[in-house]
Amino acid sequence: MKLAIVGTGYVGLVTGTCFAEMGNEVICVDIDARKIEKLNRGELPIFEPGLEIYYERNRREGRLHFTTSLEDALPESEVIFLALPTPPGEDGSADLSYVLGVADQIARWMVAHPETGYKIIVNKSTVPVGTADRVREIFESYGLKAGEQFDVVSNPEFLREGVAVDDFMKPERVIIGTRSPRAAEIMTQLYEPFVRQGNPILVMDERSSEMTKYAANAFLATKITFMNEIANVCERVGANVDEVRRGIGLDSRIGKQFLYAGIGFGGSCFPKDVKALARTAEEYGYAFQILKAVLDVNERQRRLLAERVYDYFEGQLEGRRLAVWGLAFKANTDDVREAPSHVIIRKLLEHGADLVVFDPEAMANTRAVFGDALTYAPGMYEALDGAEALIICTEWNEFRRPDFQRMRNRLARPLIFDGRNLYHPKRMAEMGFEYYSIGRPHYPPHANPDPVLLASSSTTDGKTGA
Ligand SMILES: NC(=O)c1ccc[n+]([C@@H]2O[C@H](COP(=O)([O-])OP(=O)(O)OC[C@H]3O[C@@H](n4cnc5c(N)ncnc54)[C@H](O)[C@@H]3O)[C@@H](O)[C@H]2O)c1
Repeated sequence: MKLAIVGTGYVGLVTGTCFAEMGNEVICVDIDARKIEKLNRGELPIFEPGLEIYYERNRREGRLHFTTSLEDALPESEVIFLALPTPPGEDGSADLSYVLGVADQIARWMVAHPETGYKIIVNKSTVPVGTADRVREIFESYGLKAGEQFDVVSNPEFLREGVAVDDFMKPERVIIGTRSPRAAEIMTQLYEPFVRQGNPILVMDERSSEMTKYAANAFLATKITFMNEIANVCERVGANVDEVRRGIGLDSRIGKQFLYAGIGFGGSCFPKDVKALARTAEEYGYAFQILKAVLDVNERQRRLLAERVYDYFEGQLEGRRLAVWGLAFKANTDDVREAPSHVIIRKLLEHGADLVVFDPEAMANTRAVFGDALTYAPGMYEALDGAEALIICTEWNEFRRPDFQRMRNRLARPLIFDGRNLYHPKRMAEMGFEYYSIGRPHYPPHANPDPVLLASSSTTDGKTGA
């Protein structure tokens, strides 16, 4: 099939590449000329594990193209996906100007090219309930006939950055929102190769499809937030959230996933989607109480670690060197949109801290936000040199089993604030670290650190710290 993808970001690029991998001919459009130039040069503009191999193969085999010109992409394409931004507006509602603007451009082009055949416009962006109707109305306002010249489909995307390619290639479910049998048939054909193992393609009406995406994200954000609240209570009552997580996760009604306490959710989706759903409910006269609480608690949780550091140093942060490991909003991505690390960094900068940061993939995106206000270390250990504490904000695998001896040698104080619960509190104390995590007990550090434990973590001789 011939496809156009409008918006070549995290979703559009993965979508286009994976469709090409299944033999479709795909043309990706973006208004960002630098991004398209890069893609045409053979460089990926984002870090997404596993994407490169498909991108290179399909480009080489001539099934994957990139352009800044929507007009170039439209003539041949039977299905046009909109993978455009839907950022939150002032009042929390999703800003639909990108989606509706491009829909208008496509409709105008179709009227000017009456020889063009039937086209399906697919909303892959996360959009409020009723958006498919609004897009259809735009086409109808130009005299185009639904079912004959075009159809509008809602096809929300559930991929997770960091495992986006796997998620797209083997989705747990595909949701197709349309009441047009013709569009449903074409969309089903398009997705069949991705669900050969038997996962379902659910065809439903547009509004239910749009709502499914918000319900999924709002539920997941609530699950995380619930665990963060449990963690906060655990700290106060002397329980350990890790044990509690294991204890409840084995109940199949609850499930083991998404129960990790931390420093609040971030990313480009959860915060904006929770806000947008709360706003939609409000527009329809319903106060979605849980979502308001989720947003409030999450704000508090994102400040937690910075406040803990502030309290520890009794507010004396001016000029104090602190190291930060992890800038991306979660592991395996370079995305820093709404990253908890950035909230923490901003707070600490306000108090005059001197921050040295490191992330395996998100340094450039962080530099684009903070510029020279931070020092960017070339490696995770270099970030520690002379720092009076380490603050961990992202759960990258390489932070899970570090060389603790080397860390001790480099840090000016063996003090760690861990927002991702990467280490065992007791073992950290035995290695002489003062270690604070989320929802777990704090043990006073041993005055004489266990040399066996430290040596077993060591990947060098542990003396030079180099
Ligand atoms: N990122 C995710 O994990 C994820 C997952 C599921 C759904 N979504 C949803 O998918 C949508 C896209 O998200 P994203 O993360 O890919 O965003 P993104 O910002 O990475 O990509 C959007 C792209 O659209 C381009 N664009 C803007 N206006 C354009 C125009 N007029 N014509 C052509 N291109 C234009 C931008 O330059 C950008 O490259 C959002 O609605 C988001 O909520 C995102």
